[in-house]
Amino acid sequence: MGNAHEIKAAGNDNGIESRIRDLLERMTLEQKIGQLNQVQAWGDNIVESLAPAIRAGRVGSVINIVDPNVINALQHIAVHESEHGIPLLIARDVIHGYHTVAPLPIGQAASWNPEVVRACARLAAQEASAFGVNWTFAPMIDISRDPRWGRIAESLGEDPYLTGVMGAAMIEGFQVSETGGADTLVACAKHFAGYGASEAGRDYNTTNIPENELRNVYLPPFFAAVEAGVGTFMTSFSDIDGIPATASDFLLDQVLRKEWSFDGAVVSDWDSIHQLVVHGFSENDVEATYEAASAGVEIDMIGGVYERHLPELVHQGRISMDRIDALVGNVLRVKLRAGLMDRDVTQLPPEPARMTALNLARQAAQQSLVLLRNEGGTLPLNAEALSSIAVIGALADEPAEQLGTWVFDGDAERSVTPLAALTSMLDGQVALHHVRGLETTRSKDTSGFDTALHAAEQSDAVVLFIGEEAILSGEAHCRADITLPGVQEDLVRHLREAGKPVVGVILAGRPLALGGIVDAFDALIYAWHPGTMGGPAIADTLFGRVAPSGKLPVSFPTMSGQVPIYYGYKQTGRPATPDTVIHIDEIPAAATQTSLGMTTFHLDAGYEPLFPFGYGLSYTNFAYTDLALDRHHIRMGESVVAEITLTNTGEVAGTEVVQLYIRDRFASLTRPIRELKRFERVTLEPGESRRVRFELHTDDLAFFRRNKTYGAEPGAFDLWIGGDSTTDLGTEFHIDA
Ligand code: NOJ
Repeated sequence: MGNAHEIKAAGNDNGIESRIRDLLERMTLEQKIGQLNQVQAWGDNIVESLAPAIRAGRVGSVINIVDPNVINALQHIAVHESEHGIPLLIARDVIHGYHTVAPLPIGQAASWNPEVVRACARLAAQEASAFGVNWTFAPMIDISRDPRWGRIAESLGEDPYLTGVMGAAMIEGFQVSETGGADTLVACAKHFAGYGASEAGRDYNTTNIPENELRNVYLPPFFAAVEAGVGTFMTSFSDIDGIPATASDFLLDQVLRKEWSFDGAVVSDWDSIHQLVVHGFSENDVEATYEAASAGVEIDMIGGVYERHLPELVHQGRISMDRIDALVGNVLRVKLRAGLMDRDVTQLPPEPARMTALNLARQAAQQSLVLLRNEGGTLPLNAEALSSIAVIGALADEPAEQLGTWVFDGDAERSVTPLAALTSMLDGQVALHHVRGLETTRSKDTSGFDTALHAAEQSDAVVLFIGEEAILSGEAHCRADITLPGVQEDLVRHLREAGKPVVGVILAGRPLALGGIVDAFDALIYAWHPGTMGGPAIADTLFGRVAPSGKLPVSFPTMSGQVPIYYGYKQTGRPATPDTVIHIDEIPAAATQTSLGMTTFHLDAGYEPLFPFGYGLSYTNFAYTDLALDRHHIRMGESVVAEITLTNTGEVAGTEVVQLYIRDRFASLTRPIRELKRFERVTLEPGESRRVRFELHTDDLAFFRRNKTYGAEPGAFDLWIGGDSTTDLGTEFHIDA
């Protein structure tokens, strides 16, 4: 994953530091503060309204301007009419695609395929840069363990390692180009830090994350981002331990700058410097400006408070010129490293070929689908054996909804819906009876149920496209009850009355709590919001043109009240086991408090998720055999090599994600019961076997310890390899003291 050093080395070789020093010597205070000022503008006269400030050097970055002619006009002013000719950072949330939309990040994470994730980010960068954008606010690498939180859609799931690997792949895809830079975007690791822990899964809410949890769970993906060479960071809206992240010198100075040596720029979130006042942390905007600038926020996103108040703080001597120079230097470094000051930024690269984009979007969507259930081999469907299918549900033919959240520029006209894809794939060979059944996923009007049932009765199979519209997840779109919205569960039950196989395809931005309905499906595919080519990818999968290979990047609860529920939980002093769990319906009349298990579980939900992290079926089966370690004792600084034989024991080719987990049995701090440490996608023909090999160094076992240092600790470790986080194929090894 190591582009950081190459990028930095290349930057230094190009004399970047001396160019920064030279500029700083020549810039006025107003021009310096301009580099820290990001503005927005809308309407018909954007160029006229922003021109004077850009010309005077009072703007370093703009956000949400997407007309390439306007962007070029603004860049022309910045480069040719301002004193120092510093180009603008042109920011846009290019989260999972620009015009062509890939699956939601949570869906991309379900591919467990960093190559495809990198390629999707590359494509997004090529499409967006063709329109003048040069900075994206992605990847979001907030560990997300609470599916009530709408932003889980934009996340890479619950696991620090998977999120780190996938986030780094996205960063490389955005920032690194074969052709040298014009078609790249500066990436932004967000939201630093702990935003995913927003209390009760309510967006923007306060967080409480002890340092152990922060450093061992929430921060590792951000460190991986620094190592991948990410250009920028964004602060979180939330507060942590009483300090809003936008003013946290612990996060921004101690961790990010001092411990990790990050030398790019930090941008606030939207108006979040001013919001320090709203938090009740700073008394007014002057104090908010002081706090953010002192902590190390370089860029004020649209708030205007830096522009208004930094001058007086400098004149009063509260903010030193050295501090201003450090902040501005970091912004200039981003611009220089991105090559913005060494090419004509108004020469926009060509748009990538539409066909290539669509093919990639289709491949990514195929790999993001997770097969959760397949009773009696219901899937794949066989077009030869079916004469008709009932296609039912509010999401079968919704070009915009399948794109998901964060698609400002997504072109819904490019979307191919499941209904359109099935129609074209089956080409009349199998009749399709399409009935919505429900107007929207959340409508409560059941008047369409009987027409849907009639269609089911007339058909050989039912395929239901249900879930959540795009608006039900994403920023500020959180839910307390995360079951299927509206009366969709009733619709599923109603359709069962037709006595036909029922295949569910759920499109959603979050894991839904499916415990109450899962058994009503003969087969169930989780499609997330699969993007532009979601329809063809789903059709390919339903009919076995590809076998599903996605695995869950996040645990699926049985019911809403179980969340947060994640695989890397702590053992506790009273771990639950299958024999200690009792269900509320089975409590004997004479039970006493102490006869009931006395372990950590819910009386109505046990302690296990409905579907565990890492889980996903295929159309074939895989056998794991002959787990072996090259040795069972290593010393600090050494590695252990684990090998397993994977065999495709089924009838069709398939791809398995082989996962390696460890547990540090005893440590100076309680450790997770399992931790993902390695994974690999392996494609095998029927009957084919492959030996899969993973190497683990003691550095891979390091954590933030009781003595507040990082490192591994000697002792016993469990190691498991398998197809999900519950695998019991394990062995052990030791780090000898
Ligand atoms: C607020 C969101 O929290 C952040 O993720 C996004 O990048 C900015 N707005 C800019 O739109």
